[in-house]
Amino acid sequence: MKLSHLLLGSLVSLVSASAIALENDTPAGASVTLPHSSSVFARVPGSSKKPKKDNWGNCVEQDRKKITIRASKSDTDDISADFLWALRKANHGGLVHLEKGKKYVIGKKLDLTFLNDVYVKLDGELKFTNDIEYWQANNFYYDFQKSITFWIWGGKDIKIYGSGVLNGNGQAWWDGFSGAEILDPNNKYYRPILFLTDNATNVEVSGIHLKDSPCWTTFMVRTKNVVFDDVYIDAVSTNVSSLPKNTDGFDSLNVDGLTVTNTRVNVGDDCFSPKPNTTNIFVKNLWCNGTHGVSMGSIGQYPGVKDYISNAWIENVTLLNGQNGARLKAWAGPDVGYGYIDNITYKDIHIENTDNPVVLDQCYFNVNETTCAAYPSKVNITNVSFLNVYGTSSGAEGRVVADLTCSPGATCSGIHLENINITSPAGSPPQIVCDNIQGDIGVDCIPASEADD
Ligand SMILES: *[C@@H]1O[C@H](CO)[C@@H](O)[C@H](O)[C@H]1NC(C)=O
Ligand SMILES: *[C@@H]1O[C@H](CO)[C@@H](O)[C@H](O)[C@H]1NC(C)=O
Ligand SMILES: *[C@@H]1O[C@H](CO)[C@@H](O)[C@H](O)[C@H]1NC(C)=O
Ligand SMILES: *[C@@H]1O[C@H](CO)[C@@H](O)[C@H](O)[C@H]1NC(C)=O
Ligand SMILES: *[C@@H]1O[C@H](CO)[C@@H](O)[C@H](O)[C@H]1NC(C)=O
Ligand SMILES: *[C@@H]1O[C@H](CO)[C@@H](O)[C@H](O)[C@H]1NC(C)=O
Ligand SMILES: *[C@@H]1O[C@H](CO)[C@@H](O)[C@H](O)[C@H]1NC(C)=O
Ligand SMILES: *[C@@H]1O[C@H](CO)[C@@H](O)[C@H](O)[C@H]1NC(C)=O
Ligand SMILES: *[C@@H]1O[C@H](CO)[C@@H](O)[C@H](O)[C@H]1NC(C)=O
Ligand SMILES: *[C@@H]1O[C@H](CO)[C@@H](O)[C@H](O)[C@H]1NC(C)=O
Repeated sequence: MKLSHLLLGSLVSLVSASAIALENDTPAGASVTLPHSSSVFARVPGSSKKPKKDNWGNCVEQDRKKITIRASKSDTDDISADFLWALRKANHGGLVHLEKGKKYVIGKKLDLTFLNDVYVKLDGELKFTNDIEYWQANNFYYDFQKSITFWIWGGKDIKIYGSGVLNGNGQAWWDGFSGAEILDPNNKYYRPILFLTDNATNVEVSGIHLKDSPCWTTFMVRTKNVVFDDVYIDAVSTNVSSLPKNTDGFDSLNVDGLTVTNTRVNVGDDCFSPKPNTTNIFVKNLWCNGTHGVSMGSIGQYPGVKDYISNAWIENVTLLNGQNGARLKAWAGPDVGYGYIDNITYKDIHIENTDNPVVLDQCYFNVNETTCAAYPSKVNITNVSFLNVYGTSSGAEGRVVADLTCSPGATCSGIHLENINITSPAGSPPQIVCDNIQGDIGVDCIPASEADD
């Protein structure tokens, strides 16, 4: 090693040591470590080494200032103030490391909308308290489907990654739920969303396990370019009489650029379901078990409001033991909105033991046939392809394996099915229903009136 490097090395540790000494706001048990790596050497005159950059042109992990905080001693030992301090400290190019084998408990709501170029390396467990009384009085509220959340992540260039767990501690919430479905207009029992971004640009979440969310697992709002890769989501109850409900894998509102790859979802509700005004969606290598499917929507819920979903590519998805497989869903009824779903491709979709493998549902939510006919959906559905969809239904809808019933209040055109091989245990041949769809859909189909049930 060159002498200048040696000198620089000791200078760095000196700076690092004095940095710690000067910080009188440092919480007990926290640490700040400055990097001593390529970017520092790159500043040495004459050095030709260029520091590596991440996808957004920011420093890579090794070149970042690293912040650690103390771990919690129990499930009620709240470290939210330490975590907030760490994010402020790490903002603008640093990293917060939540270490393997340690648990960090969040017991207070957190406004994290100030972020700009920050990494959170989650190797341990970040867990929320299950103090229902506190969280129902202290949260962030969104009018859209009366959503609440523990915290809001906002700003730009936010990366959360590692081998750890983000734990919503949902059991107590599901136990207390007793049928309080979020879309029930009388519901007052609000449950928090586990991960929510708002007004964010460039968000990446990878490697981690998002576990037991009280309500939706993720919800992106007014966000641009969000990527989930290699993520595992589950919500599993230990109480047979209170199953997880509304624990969707992925939801979005006013989002441009939503990507989910190499991900597994095991929840009792939607696996992936972008909501109003989501565009440029990319999903590849997704596995969903026991879910309500990969849906576009629901949209068109609010009176007078125009919603849309456009440009989605959904490829190589496995859907097992669910209510729905590939679904498009829009609201109907006397007080709903309007809009369109356009340019959607589902390709290479493997479905097993699922009630409605392919479904276009324009009588959402809980709208009976009479009301749906009197107040049909005003959401147009155009340019949707289902390519290579294969497997089995559960037989719940008899021989019907695909049900494409377009609302008389809307236009459905450019619907194309190709290479569909879904069988039903209820008998053969399987039936594909098409009603009020303009043009040829590419396969033989029958009107709903001629179908099994
Ligand atoms: C969104 O974030 C930007 C900074 O990234 C800020 O300037 C702007 O005020 C925020 N908008 C809202 C509506 O909060
Ligand atoms: C299981 O859920 C039921 C219904 O919500 C609830 O009454 C009961 O207390 C729960 N059991 C336990 C052990 O929490
Ligand atoms: C499809 O996704 C599964 C994960 O669900 C993965 O194991 C498989 O390799 C993917 N296939 C292709 C061709 O990428
Ligand atoms: C899939 O979900 C079913 C319940 O719907 C469950 O019994 C099964 O264990 C799950 N399989 C995996 C691999 O998680
Ligand atoms: C969707 O975007 C339109 C503007 O194009 C806006 O009027 C509408 O309020 C948005 N929908 C929601 C639910 O935010
Ligand atoms: C349709 O969506 C795909 C992404 O799946 C996109 O590449 C393409 O440009 C979109 N087409 C139009 C006409 O916008
Ligand atoms: C739905 O389609 C009809 C007929 O093509 C059109 O008049 C209407 O504007 C469309 N609605 C939306 C929200 O795009
Ligand atoms: C359909 O729903 C409407 C509104 O909830 C209700 O008034 C009506 O009685 C229902 N009709 C049937 C046949 O269930
Ligand atoms: C459907 O796609 C075609 C070809 O990309 C395009 O011309 C048309 O505008 C699309 N339809 C709607 C309603 O967006
Ligand atoms: C459809 O799938 C079944 C197995 O699920 C297979 O035996 C059959 O050959 C397939 N048919 C076509 C035309 O691919």
